[in-house]
Amino acid sequence: MRRFFHLKRRVEASPNAEGRLKHIAFIMDGNGRWAKKRGMPRSYGHAAGASNFRKIIEYCGSIGIGAVTVYAFSTENWKRPREEVDAILKLFTDYLSEAEKSFSEKDICVRFLGSKAVFPAPLRERMEALERASTGKRQRLNIAVNYGGRDDIVHAVNALISEGKTTVTEEDITSHLYTSESPPPDLIVRTGAERRISNFLLWEMAYAELYFTEVLWPDFDERQVDLCVKDFYERKRRFGGL
Ligand code: IPE
Ligand code: IPE
Ligand code: MG
Repeated sequence: MRRFFHLKRRVEASPNAEGRLKHIAFIMDGNGRWAKKRGMPRSYGHAAGASNFRKIIEYCGSIGIGAVTVYAFSTENWKRPREEVDAILKLFTDYLSEAEKSFSEKDICVRFLGSKAVFPAPLRERMEALERASTGKRQRLNIAVNYGGRDDIVHAVNALISEGKTTVTEEDITSHLYTSESPPPDLIVRTGAERRISNFLLWEMAYAELYFTEVLWPDFDERQVDLCVKDFYERKRRFGGL
């Protein structure tokens, strides 16, 4: 009960008190440069990034943001050196193990965005089991691994073809994307100074607000979240109207 009041106070005092920010998405970029600045290997930056990811999703939940999507590994990231890919996948499986243990007490429903076919069967089954076990929970967490926005659109269209469709509507595509259970993102934040989309949520971002920051992902803290939420509330969303 005390925890509930504590949380409620936090939501009321948060920059998202109006609750208009329902879905925030992060392109978690800059881990490699963060490590390099410290004279450390890139994998050190990924470890720091993974631990920051835990902190940030927790904080977003505490300020009443119902859905959080994170870009963890793109369909293009397979081009990186083998050791780096392995280090990132190891951090991902560590997180999966932790989630398997702790998610029963958490009100989080997790979905993995991207084709699971590339992963070994035991890992794939664990991802699916976690998705099943967390179904129906309140807070949405989408983790994009082996994700590409173009790949997702192609996957949706192929699913529609296999259902026998010969023409499709926007709703058909929206409802067959990996994000079909989430509202569209209201705000997309990219850390790490690059001002590009890198194949993230191409269809869903049609009317998302975009926020770019120089802060490298491992340094992106709760205060930074507050800044981008505040920035979101200063914008006028017209959706093409007046
Ligand atoms: C983001 O950080 C994490 C992934 C893409 C997996 P980077 O690894 O791209 O870090 P920089 O951009 O090289 O600093
Ligand atoms: C985008 O970052 C992908 C993720 C954060 C997972 P990248 O570092 O891969 O993107 P580019 O290469 O700078 O476009
Ligand atoms: Mg990068």
